[in-house]
Amino acid sequence: MSLEYHNDKLQFGGQDVTSIAERFGTPLIIYDEAHMRGMMRRYHTVLSSHVEHYSVSYASKAFTSLQMIQLLKEEDMEIDVVSSGELYTAIRGGIDPSRIKFHGNNKTPEELEFALAQGVTLFIIDSLDEITLLDEIADSPVNVLLRVNPGVDVDTHEFISTGQTDSKFGLSIADGTALKAVKEIEKAENLDFKGIHYHLGSQLSDPAPFVNALTAVYDWLNDHEIEIEILNMGGGFGVRYTDEDIRFPVEEGFDEIFTRLKEMTSQYGFSIPHVIIEPGRSITAEAAITVYEVGTVKDIPGVSRYVSVNGGMSDHIRTPLYGAEYDIIPVTQRPDGADSTPVNVVGKLCESGDIIGKNKPLPANIRRGDLVAVKTTGAYHYSMASNYNQMLKPAVVFITSDGVREVIKRQTLDQLIQNDVLMED
Ligand code: LLP
Repeated sequence: MSLEYHNDKLQFGGQDVTSIAERFGTPLIIYDEAHMRGMMRRYHTVLSSHVEHYSVSYASKAFTSLQMIQLLKEEDMEIDVVSSGELYTAIRGGIDPSRIKFHGNNKTPEELEFALAQGVTLFIIDSLDEITLLDEIADSPVNVLLRVNPGVDVDTHEFISTGQTDSKFGLSIADGTALKAVKEIEKAENLDFKGIHYHLGSQLSDPAPFVNALTAVYDWLNDHEIEIEILNMGGGFGVRYTDEDIRFPVEEGFDEIFTRLKEMTSQYGFSIPHVIIEPGRSITAEAAITVYEVGTVKDIPGVSRYVSVNGGMSDHIRTPLYGAEYDIIPVTQRPDGADSTPVNVVGKLCESGDIIGKNKPLPANIRRGDLVAVKTTGAYHYSMASNYNQMLKPAVVFITSDGVREVIKRQTLDQLIQNDVLMED
């Protein structure tokens, strides 16, 4: 993260954070576009050094917007979507539909029809029932991958762990349902089986589960003589929210992963597939900060200090939901020399769990009107934002080589009630 203080004022991506906040208001999510481009290029460099055919398919659930799609286009990325809404955003953003992959454990018939009409060409089948559904809806063969659960353990929060047998996602290779699904797809008139997908979980810093999944999947492919053209290993590459976190080691990690892929394919005489990866968080999380303004500061003598900011769980749900930890820093360092003291940074929503960070060191003399920045908020923040308490979704800006540009405007009060209907007599 390109964060540093210059004359005691926080600079992000080479820009003065206070000036950006004055111009666009707060709460404000500020992205450093160069960081995102850098990560996209890094994945391209690494994958192209290992395999001839690959795609880097951004999981747009992490953060999407028309300008984000534009950026993805410019960086030769493909896109994963999981709903009509994500699909619509991608299409309206101008991405070629053949670069979109449609995921989800419960795609509705309307969504499948919409995706086919838009020209999406790769569907990730997530259940036995979707095989029949998509086969009926498609009127000519569409390419499909099957989402399987390789049954490997991962070390992450249970809510974001997905590759185990007991999961709402995918079909287990251990209990025979994945094999049944492959057979049914092969029989289906309008489905063209292209390969396998799995997503093991999120915020993984260890390549081992990816390596183990390859072993499990290739043993299974070989046991059942299943040939694949495409292998989609999912996303989940970990980032550093705080110093406690270990980033997924992209270069070394993919060295290990591709070494195992090459061992497995040569051991069983399979050709090297087209490899897809689906990073979301690792492209956007560390590219952004959220800036809030401090309001009420409440001291409970001898117990704690609560610093309330002008947003909260409506734009920062990951701490209440997963207990996620973030670094929170002052936007202006006070030269008047106040030491840091641990404070609870909380939001303004009516919920005791509306916490952004507990015991975070901030200047002892922090007061109303000060700005604070929460680091690493580029993934699953705006996209998980809600209107609880009729809070407005924040604005989003990108720092670009041409200066700071608004990419999502702040929601307005009128937008909050625009779908409300008053019953008339
Ligand atoms: N591919 C599939 C099929 C996925 O389900 C996901 C995330 C990804 C790729 C991208 O994973 P990433 O690289 O972003 O970790 N709301 C949670 C994360 C849910 C992730 C769901 N699937 C959070 O805030 O941590």
